[in-house]
Amino acid sequence: MSTRIPVIVLGGTGYVAGEVLRLVLGHPQFELAGVMSDSQPGEAVGKAFPHLAAALGGVVFESQAAITQRIASLPRSAVFSAAPHGVSAALIDTLLQAAEAAGTQPRVVDISADYRYSSADAYAAVYKHAHGAPARIAQFTCAVPEHLAHASTPHVAHPGCFATATLLASVPLLTLDLVEPRLFVSGVTGSTGSGRKPVDGTHHPTRHSDLYSYNALAHRHVPEITACAAAASGVHADFAFVPHSGPFARGIHVTVQATLKRPLTGEEVLVKLREYYARAPFVRVDKSAPRVKDVASSNYAHLGAAADGRSVAVMCAIDNLNKGAAGGAVQWMNRLFGLAETTGLTAPAPGWT
Ligand SMILES: NC(=O)c1ccc[n+]([C@@H]2O[C@H](COP(=O)([O-])OP(=O)(O)OC[C@H]3O[C@@H](n4cnc5c(N)ncnc54)[C@H](OP(=O)(O)O)[C@@H]3O)[C@@H](O)[C@H]2O)c1
Repeated sequence: MSTRIPVIVLGGTGYVAGEVLRLVLGHPQFELAGVMSDSQPGEAVGKAFPHLAAALGGVVFESQAAITQRIASLPRSAVFSAAPHGVSAALIDTLLQAAEAAGTQPRVVDISADYRYSSADAYAAVYKHAHGAPARIAQFTCAVPEHLAHASTPHVAHPGCFATATLLASVPLLTLDLVEPRLFVSGVTGSTGSGRKPVDGTHHPTRHSDLYSYNALAHRHVPEITACAAAASGVHADFAFVPHSGPFARGIHVTVQATLKRPLTGEEVLVKLREYYARAPFVRVDKSAPRVKDVASSNYAHLGAAADGRSVAVMCAIDNLNKGAAGGAVQWMNRLFGLAETTGLTAPAPGWT
């Protein structure tokens, strides 16, 4: 009998689910035990993800009813939710209720925004609809794995892609008391950040060869970034965030600027960042400018910094689907099952994508 940990993936046909599947198929301790699709139950998973078809064999998408039964029958399982916000919370709650009734013990990492808030009211204020399962919120911790060694809850909420890049760059500055608590963030994301369903602003002809901002100073992820930064650093900082649509499919580049509390050179800031992330296997701090191509499709984050005595700029490049979603989620799931956090995640970026 296999001793591998059975994995269930929710939101099956989405881009993030595809990346979770790619990582699970290459993971030495996980094995795929079910992929739920709301829209395509019974269809081959390899049809939605032709790049994974050979490794998936004949795996087909399953209905919520079938996945509920599976979770209730497996003594333990690792559940990744890549469902949309507004759907994920209630779906996870239904599955956990079935597991509780059967006495089984799934661990969940939710990649949607549904369990990132510590209260249902705070969630509803941002997302303009009621939370799907308020009683579950206390069972989730939201943090970038590099900023919290252990989750004290059974389940984890992934903070998201822009948040991961912004927090990796900002939290050391705040924790080490290097900057005034007002940070200016400019971020550029690839088109896979908008998911599989094409909409006008994310459509290839619109986006290709172009660069434009959207939701400037009004992006819905800012309250999540603010809360995660405060939890990780102990400092309640203001984040002024301007996201941009970039003309590439994968990756995020973020620049965080702030006023230094005392004069520092760029080299001194780099030393501080290196010390802060000395035990973070996926974070590389270097004086060269971080580039999206060096991290795209990997779980690595590259950080760089510049300072002129008064101001500091910290740049961070990650892959939105991997480190910013599926990879960060696998990193947390590894920890929830007592595995080394790097398990199945150390493949380097291809470099030319
Ligand atoms: N894309 C990124 O870079 C990124 C980064 C961090 C976090 N996230 C978060 O990860 C989640 C997935 O993102 P994505 O980019 O993969 O989105 P996506 O490509 O739009 O996929 C989401 C999937 O969820 C399922 N779904 C949609 N409506 C549903 C409904 N009413 N009930 C049940 N399932 C439904 C669909 O799959 P089925 O019909 O097959 O179930 C859909 O393909 C989102 O919550 C997103 O905010 C995304």
